[in-house]
Amino acid sequence: MSRIAYVNGIYVPLRDACVHVEDRGFQFADGVYEVCEVFGGRLVDQTRHLARLKRSLSELGIGMPVGEGALKVILRETVRRNRVRDGLVYLQVTRGAAKRDFVFPAPDTPPTLVVTARSVDRSKAEAGAANGISVISLPDNRWERVDIKSTGLLPNALARQRAKERGAKEAWFVDRDGYVTEGAASNAWIITRENTLLTRPAESGILRGVTRTTLLDLARRDNLLVSERPFTLAEAKAAKEAFVTAATALIMPVVRIDDTVIGDGKPGALTARLRARFHEVAERSL
Ligand code: PDD
Repeated sequence: MSRIAYVNGIYVPLRDACVHVEDRGFQFADGVYEVCEVFGGRLVDQTRHLARLKRSLSELGIGMPVGEGALKVILRETVRRNRVRDGLVYLQVTRGAAKRDFVFPAPDTPPTLVVTARSVDRSKAEAGAANGISVISLPDNRWERVDIKSTGLLPNALARQRAKERGAKEAWFVDRDGYVTEGAASNAWIITRENTLLTRPAESGILRGVTRTTLLDLARRDNLLVSERPFTLAEAKAAKEAFVTAATALIMPVVRIDDTVIGDGKPGALTARLRARFHEVAERSL
């Protein structure tokens, strides 16, 4: 079955889907995106993803391409047409196509909207989570506005590639003061020897991950000890457990940071429990 993409009002086979060569997303990475998990045919945490999308767009002065109700229909329809039960839906909005000029185009330039969806093999993902992942640390060399979910992801792509070359699955960025900010495409967490969950506050240096926010709901509901405070790379290496969160990874155990094995080198018990229960608290919409 060929995959289907939504592009500016029409559903087309993925191989025929295209945007203008002068689209500002292509020319300047002048756009934002969201990735939402699909679980059992339902969108996970759609409300939070759409709220963050609106915030990203408003921070950059890009208009919503269609109303929120229409966008929900497009997301659902793209998932349906691609027959995704478990997987991901990707949506991107750019400032639209216009003659290449750094200055914004005329305000009536329509934003570009692209939506795609793909299936993910859940049993493979669970098998991966049973082993956990290795991460490497790298200096954070990104711009200050990482709170905006911008498509400008070159430092993130370079970091992931570096991780791959070193046999790891994720790279953790470290700020100038030695504190971990976040992963190249995930938020970073540790669990201390006193069983406190630590993750950096979303006020600076990170994207406010939707998975992160929902996990905070779960942790608070279960009366776990949680502290939103920055932690150093050294603290992470001495932690009892570590993990990352993202719509693409859910709660993924980290078993090695650089050359340091975390705990006994296997996914931590609390991390595994949180992963198993994540969908109990996440919103699921048809
Ligand atoms: N990335 N931080 C960064 C830099 C990210 O790129 C992501 C997600 C997250 C986690 O956010 P969320 O929990 O809302 O997925 C944190 C997506 C999945 C991606 O780029 O594919």
